[in-house]
Amino acid sequence: MSEKVAREREKLIFERSSAGRVGYQLPALEVPAVDLAATLGAALVRDEIADAPEVSEVDVVRHFTRLSKWNYGVDEGLYPLGSCTMKYNPRINEELARLPGLAQIHPLQPDDQVQGALALMWQLEQALMAVTGMARVTLQPAAGAHGELAGMLMIRKALQARGDNRRVVLIPDSAHGTNPASAVFAGFETVEIASTAEGTVDLAALAARLAAGDVAALMMTVPNTLGVFEPDISRAAAMLHEKGAFLYMDGANLNAFVGIASPGKMGADALHINLHKTFSTPHGGGGPGAGPVAVSATLVPHLPVPVVEKDGDRYTLVSDRPGSIGKVRSFYGNFGMLVRALAYIRSLGADGLKSMAEGAVLGANYLRARLEGDYHLAYAGPSLHEVVFDDSLQAAGSVKNIDIAKRLLDYGFHPPTMSFPLIVHGALMTEPTESEGVDELDAFVAAMKSIAREAKESPELVKGAPYTTPVRRLDEVRAARQPVLRWRPTQE
Ligand SMILES: Cc1ncc(COP(=O)(O)O)c(C=O)c1O
Repeated sequence: MSEKVAREREKLIFERSSAGRVGYQLPALEVPAVDLAATLGAALVRDEIADAPEVSEVDVVRHFTRLSKWNYGVDEGLYPLGSCTMKYNPRINEELARLPGLAQIHPLQPDDQVQGALALMWQLEQALMAVTGMARVTLQPAAGAHGELAGMLMIRKALQARGDNRRVVLIPDSAHGTNPASAVFAGFETVEIASTAEGTVDLAALAARLAAGDVAALMMTVPNTLGVFEPDISRAAAMLHEKGAFLYMDGANLNAFVGIASPGKMGADALHINLHKTFSTPHGGGGPGAGPVAVSATLVPHLPVPVVEKDGDRYTLVSDRPGSIGKVRSFYGNFGMLVRALAYIRSLGADGLKSMAEGAVLGANYLRARLEGDYHLAYAGPSLHEVVFDDSLQAAGSVKNIDIAKRLLDYGFHPPTMSFPLIVHGALMTEPTESEGVDELDAFVAAMKSIAREAKESPELVKGAPYTTPVRRLDEVRAARQPVLRWRPTQE
């Protein structure tokens, strides 16, 4: 059977159901059966699970094994999502995170039984303080966006502590969508500020908005989502501080300058670090993540609890901190991620971290240089870790970024991030990360060049893609208007 036919024949596990088929064989019971209804109460016991598929073990194993082969991940090839940063997850991290002494401890164990784990958290905090140049770090938040929320809550608390009721948070128009969402969740109102033609924050617009005296903070991504470094970041920080406002730095893109420049020296008051972007922990799948937040001395009293404190050789978790915003995560965060991040930092060392950032920037600029003639560059300024192309050179054949992305699937690549940042129409935001060797980048370049040629010579081919995937192009309007999200027995 060809792969294509096999894929077309793959049904849902529910559709494979055959009445009476079971996935196990057990010998007859040799002991008296427990009356569950009598033991647990009839309301808690059910005889069958409605509509559960009746399948054999081999049906289940083969179905899910086949599905797993349809997947695409960082272990298969380049995953050039800009802003989401899918970098390689070193196996040594996984080995260390699975060590029984780390994986099997319980968060309710007393401090004196988990000194090693606390020391590890302390060391990670010290390392993140060193790379950010900030006063302290909380490791608790479970993702970048969660870190933003924690950071903005700390800023809110600091304002409250000085009896200041200002509410406005400025957000550049190139910002990641989580920034305004986090500000609003933390009780602020957001006001957008425009970018300059170079894609950086407009300092004149910033000064004008600050004059009103109601600005609590600016949330600024550095480098921003165009992959452009904000050259005036220190001036922006000084302008904010002069007006009693805070600089929240979205540090998701720290992988572009870790070991090279220091957010603390730039004037940041708080920044979150996406461990998956800079420090190689796994990303995606909704699994546990970590978005530590580094803060300046002013915000230290407001850090979430508990914090790890060191006294001589002893580590303790301290929760008695009256100025704290409280807990933002159960226990002390996703500990396994912290182990992986520290493993990465320790294996690379200070010089290695710096060359990691250099590699990330080099990779993005290599793609930029090789593809600049084939795809329009949204902003001409220097790129750091990611490069944003758009589809305007493909306009003659009405080929859009989505067509290019779908066609890339036929060439065996995951597409770049599409249609973001919002200020770039038809964006293809591309980030190779430092994980990729030049061969993989060249293969991607060849695919992108070939698609650019196809878009000129046979645009319909590109617009009909993908041709080789288990599911062809979806009717997106129908999917949005009539979403079918659940299988139902009556359904065809
Ligand atoms: C610039 C920026 N800010 C914030 C986030 C949110 O991070 P997370 O997806 O971990 O919540 C991302 C996503 O990776 C990002 O690229």
